[in-house]
Parts: sequence; C-alpha cells; structure tokens
Amino acid sequence: MTTSRKACVIGWPIGHSRSPLIQNYWLKKYGIDGEYTKREVAPDALADFVGSLRANGFAGINVTIPHKQAVLKLSKPDERAEAVGAANTLWYEGDTLCSTNTDVEGFLNNLDAGVPGWSRNLENVVVLGAGGAARAVVHALIGRKAAHIHVVNRTRKSADDLAARFGKAVTADNWDALSTLLARASLLVNASSAGMKKQGALDVDLNSANPSLTIAELVYDPRDTALLKAARARGLRAVDGVGMLMHQAVGGFERWFGRRPEVTSELRALVEADLAAA
Ligand code: ATR
Repeated sequence: MTTSRKACVIGWPIGHSRSPLIQNYWLKKYGIDGEYTKREVAPDALADFVGSLRANGFAGINVTIPHKQAVLKLSKPDERAEAVGAANTLWYEGDTLCSTNTDVEGFLNNLDAGVPGWSRNLENVVVLGAGGAARAVVHALIGRKAAHIHVVNRTRKSADDLAARFGKAVTADNWDALSTLLARASLLVNASSAGMKKQGALDVDLNSANPSLTIAELVYDPRDTALLKAARARGLRAVDGVGMLMHQAVGGFERWFGRRPEVTSELRALVEADLAAA
C-alpha cells in the first residue's frame, strides 16, 4: 500500500495557476511523498469531481475561478468561507469534506511578516475592489478590529452590496473621494484586479496620502505594479501580491500533507522567476 498523498488545484481554465509550483516546492523541500497537480474542471463536472475526491485518492484540493462559490454547497464551510461567500481550500476531517478561505490568513500573514505592527491603528482603511478577494480582505480586517473600512469600486453597486453584507464598520465610497480618504487612512489595499497584466492600470493618486499609509497589493502579475512603484517612490511601506500568493498556500499544504510549510526567500525567488518567464 502506498502512503503517497495527492492534492490538486481545480479551475476552468487552469493554465495560469502557480499553486503546483509552490506546493511541489514544499513537498520536495520537506521530503514528503506526495504530488500536487492541476485539473481543468468545467462547471457541469464540478459536483462529480468534488464528490469523488476521496475515491480518486485526493487528500484535498485548491479551488480557483470560477468554482470558489459553488464548492460551498459541496462541502462543509468554516466560518471564514461562510463569511466571505467563497472557499479556495478543501480537505477531509474524518469522512467530512471541509472547506475554508485561506485568502483571509494569506492577506493577514503577509502583512504581519512584511509590516510588523501594521494593524495597531486601523481607524480608517481603504479597500479597492468589491469582488471575492475584497470580501476576504474585509473579513480579515474586521477580525483585526478595523474601525472604518471604506470600499471603493469601479461599479458602485457592488461596493454597496459588500458594505451591506459586512455591517456598520464598512461603507461604500466613490472614486472621487479617494484622495480625501487616503489623507487619513493607515492602510490601502488593492483587492481589485486593476493593475494586472492585460487589465487597465489602476488610477490612484498617492499625492495626498498620509505618510504613515501602508499599501497592500494583491495583484502579483506583474510583481511591481504601478501602485507599488508609486508607494516606494513616496517612501511608503508596502507588501506585494507575491507575498500573499505564497502565504495563502500554507493552509492547504498543512492540512493535506501534515506539516506547516515556511514561506522563504527561496520560494519567493522561484515564483518570481516563473512570473518573469511567463
Ligand atoms: P476577485 O475574485 O479577484 O475579487 P472578481 O470577483 O471578478 O475577482 O472582482 C474583480 C474586482 O476588480 C471588481 O471589484 C472589479 O470592479 P467591478 O465591480 O467594477 O467589475 C475590479 N476591477 C477589475 N478591473 C478593474 C479596472 N480596470 N479598474 C478598476 N477596478 C477593476
């Protein structure tokens, strides 16, 4: 009998995923007998695939676009996945297929590692974007007791919906309020996909920014987005999307392969080289 453990990432399409690179790096580093692959699973095949994970030898999976919402009904979501309305990591506890959203801890742990003390004073925070990533960020920030979370999004209606979902600490604001908001904010998070390769650039002017503003970028391709370059030019503290990408991968590895892996500079170099080669 083999003791080898298997996991994979599913999506539709799946070509872009860096999860195999990260997970297989850790398997090799820790000498664990396991494999992590990627599978393209169409929406109409999702329920069958998830329903037969164990029969097919999988200890669990990562889930990416467009399946993050649909897997909630196919598993037992924890409080995080419920609150965010999306799961990206599934694993078994006994016979129960559980799910969580590791973007929440990925976001927090990346900031804790890169900007120690960042959450000491979260009186005013600005979050750009109102999709799934923004929901994970807002949930994480509420957990760190952010007093006022201002959600600014290209489509105002989505920001209003997000604010209504999370209660009174969260308000929706317009793009033209940004410079006023940034003058008193201690944290700006880009949780929109603006700034990604092949997307429009993110139009944020940091001229009015509070000198103690910290910036958290979630976009990782390119690594050095226009927002990060502008932040550095002003001497602001910042963390990049590569950091969050690595940190969000930790929870799955730990659950499937039984060891909490480390986010190292060697792993970062590997991911950055892969991004640069793409
Ligand atoms: P994710 O799961 O990564 O959050 P998503 O749910 O598709 O992805 O959400 C993408 C977010 O990026 C949305 O808030 C989107 O704004 P809209 O609600 O107006 O679509 C935002 N976004 C995408 N491209 C953008 C751009 N060029 N400028 C500003 N915001 C953008």
